[in-house]
Amino acid sequence: MTGKTANNDVVIRVSDLYKTFDDNQVLGGVSFRLNRGETLAILGRSGQGKSVLIKCIVRLILPDAGSIDVLDQDVLRLEEKELNELRIRVGYLFQEGALYDSMTLADNLMFPLSRNKPGLSRAEKEGLVEQTLKSVDLFEDKDKMPAELSGGMRKRAGLARTLVLQPEIILYDEPTTGLDPYTARDINELIIRIQEIYNVSSIVVTHDLKCTRKVSDRVVILQNGNFIARGSYEELENHTDEMIRNYFI
Ligand SMILES: Nc1ncnc2c1ncn2[C@@H]1O[C@H](COP(=O)(O)OP(=O)(O)O)[C@@H](O)[C@H]1O
Ligand SMILES: [Mg+2]
Repeated sequence: MTGKTANNDVVIRVSDLYKTFDDNQVLGGVSFRLNRGETLAILGRSGQGKSVLIKCIVRLILPDAGSIDVLDQDVLRLEEKELNELRIRVGYLFQEGALYDSMTLADNLMFPLSRNKPGLSRAEKEGLVEQTLKSVDLFEDKDKMPAELSGGMRKRAGLARTLVLQPEIILYDEPTTGLDPYTARDINELIIRIQEIYNVSSIVVTHDLKCTRKVSDRVVILQNGNFIARGSYEELENHTDEMIRNYFI
């Protein structure tokens, strides 16, 4: 992008990240960067450490070694208060969605806003809730309870709850897993639309090839604790190494 300093163009920089649980080495020296405005897909079979890796980025898991810079902050050295402030700027869409069952959809968005953006007026918060629910096509459903929503609507609602805080980065953990193909397609389109509307930078962790092909600018494949390939979807799909090509069939 033009007009920005080099440093400003990298929003996440992970270097030499290691994590072992007991004798299970999950991350063995992982390094990568996320550029501003881009969508990076982390592809890999289940159990390869994709979730562990993105949890490290917001320090939900503490790595054993390595460094993590997010929006020019040294994540592993931050005090709790600064970490909480950073977590508002980095939205995390959990695999499970994580809605409050006892609150309406609108209140599910109002709650994190009231807690994390206390400086906003009531009207400003209501405006943000409305705008965000419209961006995921759920404004008509604002007074429903989570139990009344379908699987796809719950995914979109979980995404809205992340988006309402207007994050600069979104980490998606398996956004389409467990959804039927039509609903998965809607979620993919939504991820693309969100990138366009909000100009966020994103990491999408997935084992869904369609999702990867549609939403990603760049792909990395995590296997046995490290990235075994990096490139565009097309580059990796046509890679000279058969093992890499096999990920795409
Ligand atoms: N909190 C934890 N304690 C111990 N082992 C864990 C923990 N979280 C993840 N693991 C292990 O780390 C490995 C990678 O897990 P995960 O990142 O969830 O895989 P993926 O998201 O790629 O399917 C698995 O072997 C899992 O059992
Ligand atoms: Mg996972």
